[in-house]
Amino acid sequence: MSSRIAYMLDINGRRRIVDVEGTTPLLWVMTEEPGLSCMPFACSAGLCGACTIEVDGVTVRACSFPVEEAVGRRIVSPGGLNETYRVDGQG
Ligand code: FES
Repeated sequence: MSSRIAYMLDINGRRRIVDVEGTTPLLWVMTEEPGLSCMPFACSAGLCGACTIEVDGVTVRACSFPVEEAVGRRIVSPGGLNETYRVDGQG
């Protein structure tokens, strides 16, 4: 039996607290976030790559990456990548 826990996540440089089961895929959380409505649900099985994001600079499929593994790591959505470049002055 799994239970819901509050997890703090760093998504596009903003801290978000989500109350979900640890095995919940990041994609489910990210589609609920304001400004991340571009995150697509496509195959939802880790096959098509439509939901590709970066976690600590490594590309992963958000639909198959559990929230509990994202805690304490930097999550960047495709839209957030542009925002990050602007903030850091690299882009
Ligand atoms: S929705 Fe297809 S890989 Fe995630």
